[in-house]
Amino acid sequence: MSAIVWKDDLELGLPQIDEQHRRIIGRYNELAAAYRRRETDAELAHRLGVMLDYTAAHFTAEEALMAELGYVGLAEHREEHQDLLQRVRRFQAVLAEGRQTITLPVLQYLQHWLLGHIRGADVDFGKAARRIAAEALVAQPS
Ligand SMILES: [Fe+2]
Ligand SMILES: [Fe+2]
Repeated sequence: MSAIVWKDDLELGLPQIDEQHRRIIGRYNELAAAYRRRETDAELAHRLGVMLDYTAAHFTAEEALMAELGYVGLAEHREEHQDLLQRVRRFQAVLAEGRQTITLPVLQYLQHWLLGHIRGADVDFGKAARRIAAEALVAQPS
């Protein structure tokens, strides 16, 4: 499983959120590298946990910014976040019971989800956020 390379199409133009996305991808890349090094199941499960905890914190921060800006797509966006968290948490429970291990399709799923979500729903939010910020600037009395 190859590492995710940061490209411009992942950039929202919101520095704080972009930095968080870089960190999530960094943690994903660490997990994928550990998988290639054939680290133990317990170590891989731990790395997945680290990545998921950071991702959950990022979702909370992103949703808070959406609420602050009055973003109309918040509810739908939150559903996408919740769906991923639920799936991965269910999978973590199965891992903890030793009924499954982290496999290539699991990494592929995570990579596909992350890239798809950032390039899609997050980039849409980035555009809306910049528009809202520009409108607020125009509306400000000089
Ligand atoms: Fe998001
Ligand atoms: Fe995001």
